Amino acid sequence: MASLISFIKERNKTTPTWLKVMIPVLGLGGIGVVAVLAAIVAFVVYGWLGQPVPVLGFEQTFVQPIDFPHTSHAGTDLLRVSADNEQLMGLGLDCTFCHRTVTTQANAGVPAVAQCAFCHQAIGPETSAPLAILRDNAGITGDSPSPINWKRVHRMPDHVRFVHEPHIRFLTANPGSIGNPAAEVAGQTSVKPALVCSTCHGDVASMQQVEQVEPLKMGQCVNCHRDNNAPTDCAVCHH
Ligand code: HEC
Ligand code: HEC
Ligand code: HEC
Ligand code: HEC
Ligand code: HEC
Repeated sequence: MASLISFIKERNKTTPTWLKVMIPVLGLGGIGVVAVLAAIVAFVVYGWLGQPVPVLGFEQTFVQPIDFPHTSHAGTDLLRVSADNEQLMGLGLDCTFCHRTVTTQANAGVPAVAQCAFCHQAIGPETSAPLAILRDNAGITGDSPSPINWKRVHRMPDHVRFVHEPHIRFLTANPGSIGNPAAEVAGQTSVKPALVCSTCHGDVASMQQVEQVEPLKMGQCVNCHRDNNAPTDCAVCHH
């Protein structure tokens, strides 16, 4: 008996503090507490993966309804060489050809399926799986047209307000302020909108699939605002 008591005393001495704290927690309806903790961990992990920033080594976790390549449309690099030795290059379309409201509104906008169909009624191999989905959505092969439900790659939290228009206006008029190599080489006092998107989106024209490459966290927004005499009041960016 005496040896048992001394054993318990001894064990109590060596029990780590965190375990002593956890024992009553686990004792009192522990499963509920553990479930809540697990839910919090899951939420944090999901939040992290839900808006993946490749800088941190996370890959995009979703696929778009149509595998849309910016390389073929906005890029100018060689896409492939056909059987009869014809080279197919990227079209080099201007970003604003598709993202039409980026210079005038809050949202950049993504084209309606009809705009895609304008070309893809005729252009592109018939065997292409993504184009088959597109032609179906456009009502060319399917019964009735239906919009493409693109998933958002960049998304600010609900309490944040972001507007493209003033940014494009400022950056195109002040190409030197952003250290944009394309703009600096041009050595111009103003550049076209397509040259300033990379400030926040990276080189989208060379992306097979769009990824978020800038963190676009509050620090980055506020630093640029401070450097360029833009407003830094909380209410400018927060509802
Ligand atoms: C032929 C039309 C077309 C052109 C040209 C085009 N885009 Fe896009 N863009 C799209 C479509 C469709 C999507 C939605 C699918 C996706 O995310 O890949 C998109 C998505 C994006 C996104 C991600 C939006 C989000 O959900 O966060 C960015 C950023 C973007 N484009 C930037 C650009 C830039 C910069 C250029 C010019 C270098 C450009 N785009 C040229 C059609 C186009
Ligand atoms: C100005 C004409 C034009 C417009 C508008 C256009 N595309 Fe394309 N698209 C092309 C060309 C050219 C190619 C390269 C075709 C090829 O690889 O043979 C292409 C390639 C593609 C491919 C790759 C096909 C494959 O299997 O390799 C997809 C997917 C695609 N476009 C989807 C879209 C979507 C979605 C839109 C609307 C947001 C769109 N395109 C708007 C001209 C256009
Ligand atoms: C100052 C940084 C910045 C610049 C410059 C910028 N964007 Fe964006 N863009 C963002 C942010 C932030 C979001 C997410 C907005 C949100 O969730 O409300 C976004 C979202 C988008 C989207 C998806 C949602 C939408 O607005 O339709 C597209 C497409 C897009 N940008 C295209 C462009 C194009 C094209 C350019 C160049 C003409 C450009 N952006 C320049 C920061 C920028
Ligand atoms: C590259 C620099 C730069 C970055 C990055 C940037 N901004 Fe700005 N922003 C500006 C400048 C400059 C203005 C003022 C433009 C003007 O009206 O002259 C501005 C204006 C604004 C405005 C005011 C629009 C209005 O109503 O007048 C909002 C809101 C805003 N930015 C939000 C954001 C958010 C949110 C982010 C981060 C996701 C961000 N900005 C990132 C440079 C930047
Ligand atoms: C130039 C735009 C801008 C300004 C000015 C700004 N914020 Fe933010 N803020 C953001 C953006 C973008 C986010 C979301 C991204 C992130 O989590 O950093 C954010 C997130 C936050 C969050 C949530 C952080 C989190 O972890 O979810 C708080 C709280 C916040 N801001 C408070 C403030 C306060 C207080 C001010 C004024 C002193 C302020 N912000 C000014 C852009 C801005």
